[in-house]
Amino acid sequence: MKRIPEAEELMDQQDQALAYAEADFSASNTLFIELFEALHPGEFGGTALDLGCGPADIPIRFARRYPGAKIDALDGARAMLDLAQAAIDGNGMAQRIHLHCQHLPAAGLAQEYDALLSNSLLHHLNNPLDLWNTIEDCARPGATVLVMDLLRPESPRQVDELVAEYASDAPEVLRRDFQASLYAAYTLEEVRGQLAATSLQGLEVAQVSDRHLAVRGRLGGAP
Ligand SMILES: C[S@@+](CC[C@H](N)C(=O)[O-])C[C@H]1O[C@@H](n2cnc3c(N)ncnc32)[C@H](O)[C@@H]1O
Repeated sequence: MKRIPEAEELMDQQDQALAYAEADFSASNTLFIELFEALHPGEFGGTALDLGCGPADIPIRFARRYPGAKIDALDGARAMLDLAQAAIDGNGMAQRIHLHCQHLPAAGLAQEYDALLSNSLLHHLNNPLDLWNTIEDCARPGATVLVMDLLRPESPRQVDELVAEYASDAPEVLRRDFQASLYAAYTLEEVRGQLAATSLQGLEVAQVSDRHLAVRGRLGGAP
């Protein structure tokens, strides 16, 4: 099935951001943390950068699971970041999670992070290298990378089935977002092709649920 890009990269409409923040993504966000735990079963006391953090549910879950971690979280949508800051403050995490309003490709993120995280951003990007090049620029040698996203179904019928299974009770704005996201998602082959143009080509690219793919592993260099 042909990819149909998202109409807008950013989720900067207040109603759209609020509907997203109020939705229950616990299944996929739990999966994200479990995938990172498989890479870091013990402690992780380094610095992490979450790209396209949205309402910051993943940084908050990450901070709870890894009490020694410090997290920078970036999104280009001010509407999302306002909700993210409220969630961070409400969870008493303001000392450990810092938000940055930046549009990828981001300039000036020179810090070398120990972990590069991103969930559900890749399919928003018309140029996926905006994500992969940012990861290359911000990762220290040996850093852990975990990028999870939707996987484009093979047919419109499969899209309808996934929307019916996972979003039938959701508000209309979220159902439309989910459907558009499935059409905009990349395939495993496309992601492998994107990575082939970068130094990240050693990362594993695999399907990790009926609707998700993950790109994960450690970068070459010192552990
Ligand atoms: C589907 S949400 C995912 C949010 C969060 N990672 C999660 O898993 O709940 C995608 C987020 O990426 C942000 N985004 C999309 N394109 C972006 C870009 N080029 N630069 C920065 N943020 C972007 C959107 O504003 C939105 O908040």
